[in-house]
Amino acid sequence: MSKKLFIETLGCAMNSRDSEHMIAQLREKEGYETTTELKEADLILINTCSVREKPVAKLFSELGVFNKRKKEGAKIGVCGCTASHLGEEIIKRAPYVNFVLGARNVSKIGEVLHKNKAVEVDINYDESEFAFDDFRTSPYKAYINISIGCDKSCTFCIVPKTRGDEISIPDELIIGEAKKAVDKGAKEVFLLGQNVNNYGRRFSSSEHEKVNFTELLRRLSKIEGLERIRFTSPHPFHMDDEFIEEFASNPKICKSMHMPLQSGSTKVLQEMKRGYSKEWFLNRVEKLRAEAPGVSISTDIIVAFPGESDEDFEDTLDVMRKVEFDQIFSFKYSPRPETEAEHFTNIVDPEVASDRLSYLQALNTEILDKKNAEQMGKTFTVYFEDLNADGFVSGRTDNNFVVKVKGSEELLGQFRDVKITKIGRTILTGELLV
Ligand code: SAH
Ligand code: F3S
Repeated sequence: MSKKLFIETLGCAMNSRDSEHMIAQLREKEGYETTTELKEADLILINTCSVREKPVAKLFSELGVFNKRKKEGAKIGVCGCTASHLGEEIIKRAPYVNFVLGARNVSKIGEVLHKNKAVEVDINYDESEFAFDDFRTSPYKAYINISIGCDKSCTFCIVPKTRGDEISIPDELIIGEAKKAVDKGAKEVFLLGQNVNNYGRRFSSSEHEKVNFTELLRRLSKIEGLERIRFTSPHPFHMDDEFIEEFASNPKICKSMHMPLQSGSTKVLQEMKRGYSKEWFLNRVEKLRAEAPGVSISTDIIVAFPGESDEDFEDTLDVMRKVEFDQIFSFKYSPRPETEAEHFTNIVDPEVASDRLSYLQALNTEILDKKNAEQMGKTFTVYFEDLNADGFVSGRTDNNFVVKVKGSEELLGQFRDVKITKIGRTILTGELLV
C-alpha cells in the first residue's frame, strides 16, 4: 500500500507550483499518494507564506492542531517562505516538527524526509535548472516557473529574504516544459516569477543565451497546440513599449495584465523603492489600453504604509478611479522582519489604516459592479477548466472573467463561445452559443 501525503498550500501561485514539485518528487521517488484526510496521512506538509504577519501566526496554531490529530508516527514538515525566514526556530517552538524546508530548497524534499530535524533553508541554493518530475494539479493549464527569487528591494517585502536572488531558468527548459504539458493536453501555460518581465537578467551560467521576457513570449507562442499564455507578476517598472506591444499583438497572450500598483502616491512609491511614479504607472495603463482595448487589469494595493498621509491615500483612490481595475488584492501594511520598512517609525494609526482599507474596498466594489454590469449580453470565448458540484462548468475568458454555464465534463479542456446572461460579483453566468 502506498504511503499517504497531506499537503496544505498557503500563499501565491509560486507556492502552488512548489507544492506540485514536492508532490512529484514524493510520488516518483518515495511512493506517496496525496490524501485530503489528515488522519490517514503518513506525511503532513505545510507550504507556508510569510508576506504578511497573519499567516505566520496561523502556522503555529495550525501545527498544534495537526500534531494532535495526526496518525501515530506521521511526520510533519514545514516548507516555503516561513520555513526560510524562521528556520530552526520552528523546531524550537514546535518540537514535534520533523523537518524545515525553505522556499528555495524544495528539490531537497526527498533528502530531508529521511533526516531527523533537518533544516534546509539556504537562499543561495540554485534550483534554477532542477529537473522536476511531472505532477500537475490541472491537466488543462500548466504552471511553469521562469525565474526563482527576486532582485528588487521593495522596502515592505520579505520575499527577497525568503526566496533569494533572482535567477532565470534557461528558455530551452521552459519551452521544453511547455511542450511536454501541451503534449499531455494542456492548452494554456501560466508563467510564474516574482518579477517575470525582468526575465533574462541573470542565468546560473553565462553560457545561456540572454533572452528577455518579450523574446521568451515570442518563442513560447510558436508552440503548436498551445493556445493561451498567461503570466504573473510583471513589474510596472519593466513595462517597456516593446513588451506592451508584443503583449497586445500576440494573439496567444491572454489580454489580462496584473500591474501591482502598491500605492498611487509618488512619495510613498519612493519610500517603498518601487522605481516608478504615479505618472509612469498611469502612462503604462494608457499605452496598454491603447494597444490592447478590452484588456483587463488587476492590481495589488497596500494601504497605510508608514508615512502615508490622507493626500497620499487620495492619490491611490485617484489611480483607482482613473484605471478602474478589474480586480484588486488589497492589504493593510504589515511590518515584516529583515525588511527596510520594519524600522520606519512613522506608523499609521491602526484605526485609520482599517478605515482606509474599508473605504478602498467599497470603492472597488462600486467600480466592479459597474464594470461587470457592462458584460451583460456580450459573447466571450471561454476555456473550460473546472467542474462545479452544482451542475455547472466554469472557465475563463481571454481577459480573465470567470464564467460558468450549465454542463458536464465533456466541456472541460474545450474553448466555447458563451453569451453572458447573469452578472455576479466574482463570476458571470452564461449560455453556450453552439
Ligand atoms: N512580486 C510579487 C510580490 C509578491 S508579494 C508580485 O508582484 O506578485 C504579493 C503582494 O503582497 C505584493 O504585491 C504586496 O501588495 C503584498 N505585500 C507584500 N509585502 C507586504 C507587507 N509587508 N504588508 C502588506 N502587504 C504586502
Ligand atoms: Fe517583493 Fe518587490 Fe520583489 S514586492 S517579490 S521585492 S518586486
